[in-house]
Amino acid sequence: MTGLKSREIHLKEYPKGAPTADLYEIKEVDVREPGEGEVLIRIVWMTVDPYMRGRMRPDVKSYIPPFQLGEPLDGGAVGQVVKSNAEGFAEGDYVVGFNGGWREYYTGPAEAYTKVDPNLAPLSAYLGVLGMPGMTAWAGVTQIMEPKEGETMMVTGAAGAVGSIVCQIGKLKGCKVIGSAGSQEKCDWITSELGVDVAYNYKDFDGSSAKLSKFLAEQAPKGIDTYFENVGGFQLEALLNNIGFGGRIALCGMISVYNNTDPEPGPANLTNLIGRGVLVRGFIVSNYMNLMTQFFGEMGPWVASGKVKFRETVYEGLDSAPEAFAGLFTGDNTGKVVIRVGPDSM
Ligand SMILES: NC(=O)c1ccc[n+]([C@@H]2O[C@H](COP(=O)([O-])OP(=O)(O)OC[C@H]3O[C@@H](n4cnc5c(N)ncnc54)[C@H](OP(=O)(O)O)[C@@H]3O)[C@@H](O)[C@H]2O)c1
Repeated sequence: MTGLKSREIHLKEYPKGAPTADLYEIKEVDVREPGEGEVLIRIVWMTVDPYMRGRMRPDVKSYIPPFQLGEPLDGGAVGQVVKSNAEGFAEGDYVVGFNGGWREYYTGPAEAYTKVDPNLAPLSAYLGVLGMPGMTAWAGVTQIMEPKEGETMMVTGAAGAVGSIVCQIGKLKGCKVIGSAGSQEKCDWITSELGVDVAYNYKDFDGSSAKLSKFLAEQAPKGIDTYFENVGGFQLEALLNNIGFGGRIALCGMISVYNNTDPEPGPANLTNLIGRGVLVRGFIVSNYMNLMTQFFGEMGPWVASGKVKFRETVYEGLDSAPEAFAGLFTGDNTGKVVIRVGPDSM
């Protein structure tokens, strides 16, 4: 043992509906030495992401196994190497990986980590625009939607971690972008700072796909060419009434149904997809990990030059992680949610 102690957040029970504070407990554990090929990391930033709600449903078959009760939660994190027993990693290196979140220290295989340069971007950006959400946005747009100049793109969840990046890539590709978010403040941000052409607060439509359909028809009289789906529900139904011929839809997420205890009825107008020859493709970011170098090659310069902007909602301290996670489902965040677990350097 290292003599170090780590506080980590465990799941006591699976949520029924929205995730609440009583589902978790904090435990202090001894931090073990890194074995052959492993590193010991002090966590600096951790992320909470909507997909973690899916890992709290042990009954649903998924691409990633469910969290186990009584075990620590896990997720993406940026940290600093405290001890290395792996080639290519030295004490003091900063790394990002899909494991190590929800705790203060993590010992695990070095191959799951990538070194990051704290001088190129703030460390937390490697969990957002330069990390999994940025890659998700880039992959959905470039590999599925393939927008062309002059086309109209629609994005739900447009003020969130993924959606806010999708909107900006859409603008860089020369599209008219329509984005939706859950408050006027968020709509103002995506229009004034991100260049979105039309923003609407979906809450103004009272869940009515008919009302929203009419609005979208006014905004895109020739139809919507590409759609990035983050939310689902009545907005999807309204979109399906307005999708154009040869439209392309990237199905990334449907956060509006993640906390449902009963199945949601499907959209009544799926048949529109047939006659209009629409491509619909669901995807998981990990399907495109082979394109990581290409992603960095495009996104790095966009971020460095300010062509792609990003915003973060920062929570302080490991203990705030459950609140940060719950806030994803109530729209508390603008841009990427990140949790500061420890200082950048000791
Ligand atoms: N396929 C993949 O590989 C992949 C990877 C990353 C993310 N995703 C998916 O992408 C979507 C966005 O993820 P993110 O990380 O960027 O999260 P995020 O947008 O930063 O945060 C979630 C946002 O969803 C909105 N929301 C919550 N409940 C809603 C509801 N009932 N109806 C409409 N909007 C609601 C809230 O914003 P408002 O204030 O606007 O309501 C909230 O801020 C999620 O569906 C996620 O599962 C998929």
